[in-house]
Amino acid sequence: MIFINVDEKKISCEEGRTLLDVCLENGIYIPNLCHVKGMQTPPASCRMCMVAIDGEKKPAMACTTRVRENMTVMTDTPEIRHLQRTALRLLLSVHDIDCKNCSANKHCELQNLSRFLKVGLKAAPYATLLKETAIDRTHPCLDYYPNRCLLCGKCIHVCRQKNGQSVFTFARRGFKTVISTFGFDNPDVFCGECLACVEICPVGALVVRKDAVNSNQKEEDT
Ligand code: SF4
Ligand code: SF4
Ligand code: FES
Repeated sequence: MIFINVDEKKISCEEGRTLLDVCLENGIYIPNLCHVKGMQTPPASCRMCMVAIDGEKKPAMACTTRVRENMTVMTDTPEIRHLQRTALRLLLSVHDIDCKNCSANKHCELQNLSRFLKVGLKAAPYATLLKETAIDRTHPCLDYYPNRCLLCGKCIHVCRQKNGQSVFTFARRGFKTVISTFGFDNPDVFCGECLACVEICPVGALVVRKDAVNSNQKEEDT
């Protein structure tokens, strides 16, 4: 066991664990969107989990930083909050903010973060840029909303964990990147009984299609 200091709180923890996991387990909240507890190689794509570490010139990402003896960490400085607000606004600048028509309304991580960081749920001062495809209905029972997706990769991670392989993968590049079932012939094999991706999605980007559930139900009933 080693000791670290976070926001003047002394914490004992196992060496080598991620700073984010240790802080969250000890009641110190650090904003995060792409983190799944225990992930060996975090994607570090959301840039929300910035912290200041004593002796380091640049802010660090808590999800990829491993704890070490006597590390002193600040999670709540004005500079850190500024970076986190900027990261949130950048995510919102490529997000279709239409909460009242969204399945995640009132249990959405973007809404939670905007409350926590005390910023409005809007992209300004950045301009909004949305993808052309509003909804992808190629999956047999899920609708995918590219303009809600944070590209956090949690759906891919949890599907692989649960099923040994992932129905979803990243497709395309740059701004056009999306989640896709490309290359997976029969997603229905896993999805009908699983839906772990829908549960873990921090926003409303994956939604169970109502008519798909109804038609599956009808087939079972006959
Ligand atoms: S994902 Fe969250 S922020 Fe985006 S429209 Fe849905 S409820 Fe609103
Ligand atoms: S669909 Fe949801 S879980 Fe998957 S990458 Fe997009 S936001 Fe993340
Ligand atoms: S949680 Fe660290 S970058 Fe997303």
